[in-house]
Amino acid sequence: MSNEVVLELRQLCKVFEPDTPRALQVLFDIDLQLRAGELTALVGPSGSGKSTLLNLMGLLDTPSKGELLIQGQATAALDDTRRTALRAHHIGFVFQFHHLIGAFNVLDNVLMPLMLQQGKPNQEQLEYAHYLLEAVGLADLAQRSAKALSGGQQQRVAIARALVNRPALLLADEPTGNLDTQTADEVFTLFEQFNRETGCATLIVTHDPLLSARCPRTISMLDGRIVS
Ligand SMILES: Nc1ncnc2c1ncn2[C@@H]1O[C@H](COP(=O)(O)OP(=O)(O)OP(=O)(O)O)[C@@H](O)[C@H]1O
Ligand SMILES: [Mg+2]
Repeated sequence: MSNEVVLELRQLCKVFEPDTPRALQVLFDIDLQLRAGELTALVGPSGSGKSTLLNLMGLLDTPSKGELLIQGQATAALDDTRRTALRAHHIGFVFQFHHLIGAFNVLDNVLMPLMLQQGKPNQEQLEYAHYLLEAVGLADLAQRSAKALSGGQQQRVAIARALVNRPALLLADEPTGNLDTQTADEVFTLFEQFNRETGCATLIVTHDPLLSARCPRTISMLDGRIVS
């Protein structure tokens, strides 16, 4: 397995509402590398900065200081268009709430990142989307409206959607936080499977010690710092 560094953080800081009386520093000098093939849990108490860190990693937000490299490419100085393109090509994101589009069917939700990026998907991409739906056990529901699915099914669609662009980096913020224990276990197994099959560096925020224990690497945060 390649051990290429997919994501590197150097001295990353985040301050919300800087230069105001409400200024709040949430991340302090974070140094971190994630490598291809790694499956990592990110844990820590509520408010310790996990989601803030994930949003920075996913290029959904910008750091106040420091540098963030995706596959060796520095991102801090990029404009929005370039950041969006980088995100579209290299990163998959799964949220606690799936954010599917209820009015669209399951297949179109999976294809959404490609449609936004390039318009109509090509044949190979379409086949991969079908493959992913089969892998998450939803092949039969491809044409079903997304709003007519259970919570666990919707989260499976969200995972397929996050993988459709074959990301080098997969980020998931409490993807099982909303699911019952058995469904959470099944969804987590999908992350393990895709991590193995695609070699994408995978980082999962979870409050569940049983799930984090299944990851070969665990990163713990406390008060905006990585403590182990
Ligand atoms: N947009 C924002 N503006 C101001 N403060 C924010 C903003 N987003 C988060 N914070 C603050 O940053 C701190 C870290 O929040 P964050 O959401 O990263 O924590 P978390 O570790 O993900 O917690 P949880 O486990 O509850 O999801 C908290 O004190 C929070 O109130
Ligand atoms: Mg959070």
